[in-house]
Amino acid sequence: MRIGIIGAGTVGSTLGKGWAKHGHQVMYGVRDPRGTSASRVLAATGTGAQVGSVSDAAAFGTAVVLATPWQATRDALAAAGDLDGKPLLDCTNPLKPDLSDLETGHTSAAEQIATWVPRARVVKIFNTTGAENMANPVYAGQAATMFYCGDDGAAKEIAAGLARDLGFEPVDAGPLTSARLLEPLAMLWITLAFRQGLGRTFAFKVLRH
Ligand SMILES: NC(=O)c1ccc[n+]([C@@H]2O[C@H](COP(=O)([O-])OP(=O)(O)OC[C@H]3O[C@@H](n4cnc5c(N)ncnc54)[C@H](OP(=O)(O)O)[C@@H]3O)[C@@H](O)[C@H]2O)c1
Repeated sequence: MRIGIIGAGTVGSTLGKGWAKHGHQVMYGVRDPRGTSASRVLAATGTGAQVGSVSDAAAFGTAVVLATPWQATRDALAAAGDLDGKPLLDCTNPLKPDLSDLETGHTSAAEQIATWVPRARVVKIFNTTGAENMANPVYAGQAATMFYCGDDGAAKEIAAGLARDLGFEPVDAGPLTSARLLEPLAMLWITLAFRQGLGRTFAFKVLRH
C-alpha cells in the first residue's frame, strides 16, 4: 500500500520504518523536504521510503497518517490539501505542552479533525501507546492491543491491517466518538510511564476467555 505520513518525528518515522520493512511504500510529508532531519529519517527508514512536501505525501498515500503535535495539526491539514475520500489515520493526542492533561475537554481531537476535513475518512489509531511499542509491540509472544475507532468501516479495516502489519492486535473501539475514550487512555499510558515509574516499555492488552 502507498502510505503518506504527515509528520516525520518520533511516531511518524517509527511507523514508516515498520511499514517499509513490511513492503509498503512510504512517503513522509515534511515542512522542509531538503532539510537534514528529512534526509536522516529517510536514511533510517531504508528502501521503500521517500520524502516530499506535506501535500505530496497526502496525494501519494492511499492511506494518510497524521503524526503531528496537536497544536500544529490544523496547519498541517491545511497544507495537506485534498484528502477527500482518503482514510486518515489520526495518531495525535491533544496534549497540553507539559503533558499534564488533554486540551479538549469531553470531546476529542479526532472529532475536531473530522470537522476540519469532512470528506476524509478519519480513524483514530496509534495514540494509546508509546513509539517503542510501535517499533515492537510483542511481549513474550503476546501482541499488544491497538485500539482504533471511526465511522467508516472500510477505512477502519485498512487501519487495522496496518496495525496488524506492525505486530499489534487491533481492537475495534466503535465509532469516532470513542476517540473521547482513546485519547484519555493515552493520558493513562503517559501517567503510568512517566509519573508511576513503569517507563516506556509496557503496553495495554485486552485478554479474553
Ligand atoms: N511520541 C509518542 O510515543 C507518541 C505516542 C502516541 C501518540 N503520539 C502523538 O503523536 C503526535 C506526534 O508525536 P511525536 O512524538 O512523533 O512528535 P515529534 O517527534 O515532535 O514529531 C512531530 C513531527 O511533526 C512535524 N510538524 C510539526 N508541525 C508541523 C506542520 N505544521 N506541518 C507538518 N509537520 C509538522 C515536526 O516536523 P519538524 O521537524 O519540521 O518540526 C515533527 O517531525 C502527537 O500528537 C503525539 O501526542 C506520540
